[in-house]
Amino acid sequence: MKEEWLKKGFVSEPVDKSLDLKAEINRLRQEKKAVILGHFYQSDEIQEIADFVGDSLALAQWAAKTDARIIVMCGVHFMGETAKILCPDKKVLIPDLNAGCSLADSCPADRFADFVQAHPDHKVISYVNTSAAVKAVTDVVVTSTNAKQIVESFPKDEKLIFGPDKNLGNYINSITGRNMLLWDGACHVHEKFSVEKILELKKQYPDAAILVHPECKGAVAKLADKVASTAGLLKFAVASDKKDFIVATESGILYEMRKNCPDKNFIPAPPEDSTCACNECNFMRLNTLEKLYNALKYEWPEVQVDAAVAEKAIRPIRRMLEISAQLGL
Ligand code: 13P
Ligand code: SF4
Repeated sequence: MKEEWLKKGFVSEPVDKSLDLKAEINRLRQEKKAVILGHFYQSDEIQEIADFVGDSLALAQWAAKTDARIIVMCGVHFMGETAKILCPDKKVLIPDLNAGCSLADSCPADRFADFVQAHPDHKVISYVNTSAAVKAVTDVVVTSTNAKQIVESFPKDEKLIFGPDKNLGNYINSITGRNMLLWDGACHVHEKFSVEKILELKKQYPDAAILVHPECKGAVAKLADKVASTAGLLKFAVASDKKDFIVATESGILYEMRKNCPDKNFIPAPPEDSTCACNECNFMRLNTLEKLYNALKYEWPEVQVDAAVAEKAIRPIRRMLEISAQLGL
């Protein structure tokens, strides 16, 4: 019984090692009309079993159109919240509810609301990596795939607030010539990439293209041959003539890159303060195959969003989806 192992302090039931987890997950997802969505930062085995793997925008788009009864969001909490806001009548599960996001946490809703109130003449653009309560005081949500185009959809003289990622905000300011007011937030994973370590790798692989996620610091983005969302970096790697790629984003994306380009060489950029070769998001990696199996078995844990908050938060999310559809994104 779920209650028993919860009382013992487990976040998920210990799973019998002899179980064929993949077969069980396949059986349960069919029986329960569930769809498994996975972000590119999930472990290889979760990406392998997911019905759909994508970036934050694609996961929201997929959630909005699925007719499944249950959505299992193998990603972090804000991704589950976005799916729940878009599909209030569906059950949205996340294998480990503790899968948060340091970037979303760097923007507490009450402080962000004060910031917004202090600038009543500004329109508010929020990155999807935010809580539902932050989205509720936002005019339009963006992801790293559509941020540039959505910012440019505002008149040039419109005053804009952009939160919470200052690195993405600075990058978008630099490529659009805007001067958006930025919230001072960041992602603990992407902030760890170092110029020095990337340059060391570049000495070993002089012909490599450097791929950088815009959540990285500006000095790292300046080294890049391509700055883009996870989906954008993958697309670039597939289309490129290069053989070697140094990848400065969470190393889960390498699974999809290697799958799509088995003849190319993808080298993860390491974090600055460690001897590890790759940089992983500890929140994303809380989801495991065992927890995914339990989530399907117990239809738990469920993502819940306060109805009044959801009613406000759905508007900027829908606006993002509408603009993205118009742009063919
Ligand atoms: P993408 O939208 O590029 O997949 O990024 C999500 C994210 O959390 C990056 O850290
Ligand atoms: Fe959040 Fe950073 Fe993890 Fe992405 S990599 S989910 S921004 S903590």
